[in-house]
Amino acid sequence: MDGTLQLPATSPSDTDALIADALAGLTQPEKSLSPKWLYDHRGSALFEQITTLPEYYPTRTEAGILRDNAAALAALVPQGGALVELGSGASVKTRTVLDAGAHFGAYVPIDISRDFLFETSDDLRLRYPTLDILPVVADFTRPVDLPTSLEQTAKVAFFPGSTIGNLVPERAQALLAGVRAWTDTRAFILGVDLVKDTRDLVAAYDDAQGVTATFITNILERLNREAGADFDLDAFAYRASWDPDLARIDMHLVSRRAQSVSLGGQVVAFAAGEPIHISAARKYTADSLATMAAQAGWSVATRFTDGQERFAVAVLTPDPAA
Ligand code: TRP
Repeated sequence: MDGTLQLPATSPSDTDALIADALAGLTQPEKSLSPKWLYDHRGSALFEQITTLPEYYPTRTEAGILRDNAAALAALVPQGGALVELGSGASVKTRTVLDAGAHFGAYVPIDISRDFLFETSDDLRLRYPTLDILPVVADFTRPVDLPTSLEQTAKVAFFPGSTIGNLVPERAQALLAGVRAWTDTRAFILGVDLVKDTRDLVAAYDDAQGVTATFITNILERLNREAGADFDLDAFAYRASWDPDLARIDMHLVSRRAQSVSLGGQVVAFAAGEPIHISAARKYTADSLATMAAQAGWSVATRFTDGQERFAVAVLTPDPAA
């Protein structure tokens, strides 16, 4: 602090929501914190750093698939139609599709991190001066209201990064069904990470430089900073593990010792070795992807992959029977 006026990063109502949500998760028998709180401004920047790590193959693999198939993907959007991205972050990979989409009318980036979204949108307006950039601040794990101006516009949804795998199955289903219910939605471009060697999977979520650990621990730092909590950051260790039954990586912060933390006027007790579940990353097979899609009224029209079948970019089309 240098004595100058500090504007709060979040409004009081955001802080209340953060505290209420954190307490709800930390008072369950199996403690958890919602991963949506990972993405404050610092968290979003750390996440961008994760995407460049040597162990984190998904981003560069998916980017390669998008590059190799950009024309086919852009052609899914009719003349004047809109590409709508869920959880757009810095929209880096999206540019590959936008570059091939001179005929697009609009790009609608949806993200929960307001500042990051608006910075990115300003940058995109400079890069694509003829494209309507229509940012929507929203939590895409809940039903999203699109701008009403898009009701009559043909839309293609884009949800890259295997972020669908970070949602619990019911939320993933709800998201797929929610997009299926948008007016005039022509296709859903969905990036999914594929089941592979366990060591490669775990390394992608537990990198040697510790960037992922810092990203995950930022959720406790954020609670300290914004919600007045007193987490001792050195007293929690990051752990990533593979669950073969659920086909997912689980990310936890593990209490290194018995300790108490105060948050929002309450005291939360931790046993030595007790985990806080922060996030999961489900991995898919061709079959599990098709099953998930079908349950929400979509068919897998195309599955673009890399040569090593590490990652897939699926094109889902509305199942007319559904
Ligand atoms: N969608 C990304 C993934 O599942 C998100 C991600 C990467 C992530 N690394 C993470 C989420 C670490 C939480 C923690 O691969």
